[in-house]
Amino acid sequence: MATFALERYCPEFTGVDEVSVKAVRVSGTEHYAEEAPELLKRYESISFAEAHHAVMHLIPKAPCRVLDIGAGTGRDAAGFAALGHRVVAVEPTEEMRRGAMALHPSSSIEWLDDSLPELASLRARGEQYDVVMLTAVWMHLDEKQRRQAMPNVAALVRDDGAMIMTLRHGPVPPGRRMFEVSAEETIGLAAPLGLSCVLNRPAESSLRQPGVSWTRLAFRKEL
Ligand SMILES: C[S@@+](CC[C@H](N)C(=O)[O-])C[C@H]1O[C@@H](n2cnc3c(N)ncnc32)[C@H](O)[C@@H]1O
Repeated sequence: MATFALERYCPEFTGVDEVSVKAVRVSGTEHYAEEAPELLKRYESISFAEAHHAVMHLIPKAPCRVLDIGAGTGRDAAGFAALGHRVVAVEPTEEMRRGAMALHPSSSIEWLDDSLPELASLRARGEQYDVVMLTAVWMHLDEKQRRQAMPNVAALVRDDGAMIMTLRHGPVPPGRRMFEVSAEETIGLAAPLGLSCVLNRPAESSLRQPGVSWTRLAFRKEL
């Protein structure tokens, strides 16, 4: 149970300033809060280099701006920061975000509580990024949300910038909200927005979950 301003959820309610209500979870984040202590260990058991060696040639060598959506434990945000990049890490699950900030304190990482498909806070800033990462997060959106999210994400990629994704396939862990997502659908959603697919291949995961496979996609935004 957490304490919230009720007016945030029920604007006509003005009786008290704060009451205890059950946390309203962002769609897609189901069961992450409960598992956060375990995931903060598991996601950190692989290195940033191991997780992303297949796409490092797409990352600028010079310091640039990186956006990591669904940043989880901050492993990748910290990896990019260590390479000299500035990172905005978007993570809606408070328990993950707080754990990540404690694990990877860095003045090069800005943490933001925002979520797909709207990314409302992020879009309100009017910024664009050289690299946009969506690692193991897109499958949390249903088809309607994916259609809504793609233009919002595409608008955040600067011209000639890269959008890099991994799609998870396989059994859904208990309590999670996940959908089967194909590379074809994703490439089809991205193409009309000027995002050309430059990499589409099976990806390995060191986390090795039975029956789970991954697809790695990368896109370049046309000038
Ligand atoms: C499988 S984890 C991946 C974390 C990290 N990207 C990594 O590769 O280790 C998925 C993350 O996406 C977040 N997430 C779930 N639904 C989301 C949404 N609608 N918008 C943004 N992030 C979401 C979860 O809270 C979780 O931290």
